[in-house]
Amino acid sequence: MAYNDTFIRACRKQEVDVLPVWYMRQAGRYDPDYRKIKENYSLLEICRQPELAAEVTLMPVKKLGVDAAILYSDIMNPVASIGIDFDIVKNIGPVIDNPIRTAEDVARLRPIDVEGDLSHILETIRILDRELTVPLITFAGAPFTIASYLIEGRPSKSYIRTKEMMYGEPKVWFQLMDKLGDMVIAYLKAQIQAGAKAVQLFDSWVGALSPSDFQMYVLPTIERIFREISHLEQPKIYFPGVSSGELLPTLTRLQADVIGLDWRVAIPEGRRRTDNRFAVQGNLDPYVLTAPMALIKEQAKAIIDQGIQSPGYIFNLGHGLFPEASLDKLKELTDFVHDYSRTALQA
Ligand code: CP3
Repeated sequence: MAYNDTFIRACRKQEVDVLPVWYMRQAGRYDPDYRKIKENYSLLEICRQPELAAEVTLMPVKKLGVDAAILYSDIMNPVASIGIDFDIVKNIGPVIDNPIRTAEDVARLRPIDVEGDLSHILETIRILDRELTVPLITFAGAPFTIASYLIEGRPSKSYIRTKEMMYGEPKVWFQLMDKLGDMVIAYLKAQIQAGAKAVQLFDSWVGALSPSDFQMYVLPTIERIFREISHLEQPKIYFPGVSSGELLPTLTRLQADVIGLDWRVAIPEGRRRTDNRFAVQGNLDPYVLTAPMALIKEQAKAIIDQGIQSPGYIFNLGHGLFPEASLDKLKELTDFVHDYSRTALQA
């Protein structure tokens, strides 16, 4: 099968005949075959078996016909290598028994050893590089989002302890940002060396910050991450997560290629707020997938019409797929995005 590079072309704002589509969290519980695998293995157990992790990564590519694969892994995987014990608990998410709260806790964090501790993940990437006919996206969690799990010890709505450290112990906070920044840079470089064709930095929860706090406490590390991988040719995506529309104007100097938008900011507005610097990825509200198919298509069509106003648009959701999503609807949506955009791009 010929290699499908539509996704990479769109990341680079090159012309395409048809829009690329992929879905955040496209490998997951909405798929009955994935649920069957999960009866026998936990997420972390799947990640430790490269053949199985590669198989799970390939499932949505085969079933949905998406234009990119995303590595089956979790943003928490690299933190094991810096000395954090965690588990992914069903229906909760990442849980850490001994959260990071003090200067000593931060000082104890080790540098990441990707080859030593995460060789199974690099092996999964190498297998996928051989098998895929679409680009493989790999990823890391961004420092604020990772820090929120390390400090809170579990998913949070308020980020109260995270903000308490940020405001109350800024020196400790910046040490933590530096260490997590180093971790992310080394991990993304190793992923690219193993064969990743694009990388995405997930900052899922950073929308919890005001624009000025984001600029002061988080953005310098994000800028450093992208600067230190900017010499690599693979496209780089920053996803500032949900409710991050007000942060967009602060991102214009980022050495990234693509910005992910959630559904609260329309595509043209997202482009405007970032001075048209980036290709744009998004932004259908994932919960629109609960609607009848006709309405899903209507909303997708409106987004596509906006997306194709200029080169550099990738169809996706505004956040990750949820477990109750329907495989059939996703397949129909993927076909619709391809068919409709092929015609619209010709016009
Ligand atoms: O298909 C893909 O997108 C690739 C796999 C992937 C997973 N996690 C697997 C996973 C990716 C890209 C992630 C990233 C991730 N993990 C993020 C950023 C993306 C986002 O949604 O904002 C975050 C915040 C996490 C942390 C995390 N891991 C949460 C909040 C949860 C959900 C807990 C739950 O049970 O609902 C997880 C667990 C997790 N990671 C699952 C999957 C498929 C679901 C549980 C499972 O199948 O075992």
